[in-house]
Formats: sequence, C-alpha cells, structure tokens
Amino acid sequence: MTTTVLITGANKGIGFQTARLLGARGMTVLLGARDEQRGRQAEHRLREGGADARFVQLDVTDPGSIAAAAGWVKAEYGRLDVLVNNAGIVRADGGGLPSQTTLATIREVYDTNVFGVVAVTSALLPLLRAAPAARIVNVSSEVGSIASMTDPDSPLWPIASVPYPSSKAALNMVTAMYAKELRDTPIKVNAANPGYCATDFNANSGFRTAEQGAEVCVHLATLPADGPSGLLWGHLWRSDDTESYGVLPW
Ligand SMILES: NC(=O)c1ccc[n+]([C@@H]2O[C@H](COP(=O)([O-])OP(=O)(O)OC[C@H]3O[C@@H](n4cnc5c(N)ncnc54)[C@H](OP(=O)(O)O)[C@@H]3O)[C@@H](O)[C@H]2O)c1
Repeated sequence: MTTTVLITGANKGIGFQTARLLGARGMTVLLGARDEQRGRQAEHRLREGGADARFVQLDVTDPGSIAAAAGWVKAEYGRLDVLVNNAGIVRADGGGLPSQTTLATIREVYDTNVFGVVAVTSALLPLLRAAPAARIVNVSSEVGSIASMTDPDSPLWPIASVPYPSSKAALNMVTAMYAKELRDTPIKVNAANPGYCATDFNANSGFRTAEQGAEVCVHLATLPADGPSGLLWGHLWRSDDTESYGVLPW
C-alpha cells in the first residue's frame, strides 16, 4: 500500500522541498496549497521529476477548506501516514517589539502558525490513527525556544519580537501536548527547526537552503519505531558555523 504524506504550504520554500525529498523516497505526496494555481504548478514540477504528487486545496485558516481536504484524503486513501504542518507566516508591527505589537498582528500570525496547526492536525487525526505508525511534523523555529531566546550568549539574543517567536513557542507546546496525548499509540509528534533558510519568508536572507531545512522535516517524518516523540529537533546554530543537528531546548 502506498505511503501518503500531506504537507501544508507545499507550493514553495521548505514545504516544497520537503515534498520533493519525500516524493523521491517513493511516498505519495499530497501538496497542500491555499492557492490552486500555485499548488498546481508545484504539482506539475514534482510530477515532471517523477514523484507521485497531487495538489489538494488547503488554507489552514479556513475550516471549510480543512474539512474538504480531510474528506478528500479519506475518500482517496482512507488513511494518512505523515502530516507535515509546514504553512507559516511572519508579521511584525515596527520591529515586532512587545510595546509596538498590535493584537491584530498577533491574531493573524497565530491563526496560521498555531490555530491552523491544531485545526489541521485534529481534522486529520482519525486518518493518522488509521495508519500503522503515523508521524506528525510541526515546522517550528529556534526563535520559539524560550531558553534560546533568553540566553544572552545565544545568537538569537538581539531578537525581541512578539508575534512570530511567541507563535512558535505556542506551537512547541502544542507539539508536546499532542505527543503526550498520543504517547500510547505508534504516532510520533515532533517539532522541526529547519534553521535559517533562504526563502521568500525572509527575502532569501537565510544562510541555509530550503532543501537543508527540508532535510530536518524528512528526518522527523521518517523516524523509526524507536524514535523520539515530543521534541524540538533540528539545526543547531553554532558560532563556528559548522553544521550540527540535535535536540533544542524548549
Ligand atoms: N525560512 C526560514 O528561515 C525558517 C526558519 C524557521 C522556521 N521556518 C518555518 O518554515 C515554514 C515554511 O517557511 P518557508 O521559509 O518555506 O516560507 P515560505 O517560502 O514563505 O513558504 C510558506 C508557505 O506557507 C504557505 N501558507 C501561508 N499561509 C498559509 C495558509 N493560511 N494556508 C496554507 N498555506 C499557507 C505559503 O503559501 P502561499 O505561497 O500561498 O503564500 C507557502 O507555501 C514556516 O512554518 C516557517 O515558520 C522557516
């Protein structure tokens, strides 16, 4: 039976590269994208590369879109082996300082980065439970690590922004709580830190590639039965610029 993976926000960036890498491993890739044209273009690119890729319309802030996507996956496949909650946005008023931040901006970011993940995960959980050993990967960030952001010796110390970092901190807790609820099942739930990757997200200023970020997601999407659950895992920012991966502090 085919192994299916659904990736949200898969039309570009880290989500697209995750889809490409998992497609190359023989998985059936369901490309979630909120915009049909962008989603179909990504589907076309992956199919040209030989992947079994299918676009599915999915806006993670739209309950109707989520329900329709879940219904389609159920009708087509009857189960889901891997869910990668990748769709995310960054917004800030001014520099994002707490004193400059509006609730409207925080709500907008949380709608996608936090509430969207909960809504999509819960809608797909019956299909993930129907798979033999499902994996859930929530694409988070090192700026969601309270320990790292409050460490004066961390390269993240100069950042003092509320909307995006606090949304990823909330996502980390969401990850830990789903992992706890599902601890007696074969399902593993982890948060991924792709590292600072050059994508549209940051006007391509990242020092890692989207593919390198995707490799972190692939690792967590393909964990073996004795792999961990309930961790923030991924790229570790080292002052000597060497590549390193491991568990990040919450
Ligand atoms: N790049 C980095 O350095 C970095 C570092 C740490 C974590 N991350 C995380 O990695 C994930 C992917 O980021 P990226 O760098 O690949 O960014 P990106 O290139 O901007 O891609 C973001 C993707 O999310 C989609 N999206 C946004 N809102 C959506 C919604 N409501 N419903 C469905 N899809 C939606 C976008 O779709 P449209 O094309 O339609 O806008 C796009 O496909 C995010 O969760 C981000 O927080 C990125």
